[in-house]
Amino acid sequence: MSRALDAARQHDLSTVVDTRHVIVCTGPGGVGKTTTAASLALGAAARGRRTIVLTIDPARRLAQSLGLGKLDNQPRPVKGVDGLDAMMLDMKRTFDEVIDRHASDPARAQRIKTNRFYRQMSGSLAGTQEYMAMEKLYDLHSTGGYDCIVIDTPPTRNALDFLDAPRRLTDFLEGRFLKMFLAPGMAAGKLATRAAGFGAGLFMRAASRLTGQAVLGDLAEFFQSFEGMYDGFKNRAQAVYHLLQQPTSAFVVVATGEVPALREARFFLQRLESDGMPTAGLVVNRVTPPPPAGLAPVTPQAARAAAATLEQDGPESRAAAALLRLHAGRVEVAQRERHAIAAALHGIDPRALVQVPLMATDVYDLPGLTAIGQHLYS
Ligand SMILES: Nc1ncnc2c1ncn2[C@@H]1O[C@H](COP(=O)(O)OP(=O)(O)OP(=O)(O)O)[C@@H](O)[C@H]1O
Ligand SMILES: [Mg+2]
Repeated sequence: MSRALDAARQHDLSTVVDTRHVIVCTGPGGVGKTTTAASLALGAAARGRRTIVLTIDPARRLAQSLGLGKLDNQPRPVKGVDGLDAMMLDMKRTFDEVIDRHASDPARAQRIKTNRFYRQMSGSLAGTQEYMAMEKLYDLHSTGGYDCIVIDTPPTRNALDFLDAPRRLTDFLEGRFLKMFLAPGMAAGKLATRAAGFGAGLFMRAASRLTGQAVLGDLAEFFQSFEGMYDGFKNRAQAVYHLLQQPTSAFVVVATGEVPALREARFFLQRLESDGMPTAGLVVNRVTPPPPAGLAPVTPQAARAAAATLEQDGPESRAAAALLRLHAGRVEVAQRERHAIAAALHGIDPRALVQVPLMATDVYDLPGLTAIGQHLYS
């Protein structure tokens, strides 16, 4: 096992929740980002820090436990936990807030917000959710008065999307399509031809959900209304990026013990390093729980040999033999996970390496999150 792995094992995440101002939980889809974010926030609040967790699409039961009954884009106090607020990102509303902030006057903001292309795009454009999460993070940082902001990230095909989203969105908004569309006197028909000629996946996907000639008018109006707002968008994206690079920020990468998730986590840890982003640790979630103390020293080979002997003793020993085989299988899975983790961390330093076992049930309430926390900080 690598030296980096041994060194990483010696750190947990308690100093992170004790000291950092922004904590971003990121990783591949479905690995436990939302759960980890909520649990880290609980840990920060337990240390007396005024904390908020910004969740994205939490499971309904978890949302309820955090006091998030409806999507209203407002921080809500978490019942029973002093100093902890939670909120659920409402992408559409956040986008509207962004428009209000950047538009030169209320009439222009209103024009954009009622534009049909905008209404379609603000809910569906790839990368919008990531951009809006960043946007809300910056808002909470500048105006929320929180000591600690824990942010969950959207389920993306690729964990890197989160870092790339602001650039992609601003590229889209000020991109070369735009320059073409804004060419004076461009007729609607010509606009459509040009757009089709470019075959812009992102653009056309959003546009194709609308039909008819009217859409072309909406498109032209949308881009024209955006004129003069690109700098605002870009500056904000840069400010968020800069905030994330500060040593007071921390990225916690979440994965499971499976090879594809760990590969993606490795890739992300490398990317964070090359972007100068402060990495705080790797959480390997839902790992195979350790065997009961009495069985722990029994190797898979010994367990299988004992099972074979027991099976010859007659039907009443079969249950014990089956348990021994189960134990052997589990120990082997745990070994595979350990090797996969060591391989993923070869040559890189995640700072902390934390393993959280697969719990008996889904994690959706405060006791469940506290139980996860015991592993994050142990
Ligand atoms: N250690 C654990 N033991 C058992 N269940 C867990 C554990 N961690 C998370 N879960 C469960 O796994 C499911 C996925 O977790 P979660 O929603 O946190 O993942 P995610 O990475 O946020 O997913 P997505 O990418 O879809 O947003 C949830 O039902 C959660 O309760
Ligand atoms: Mg999630």
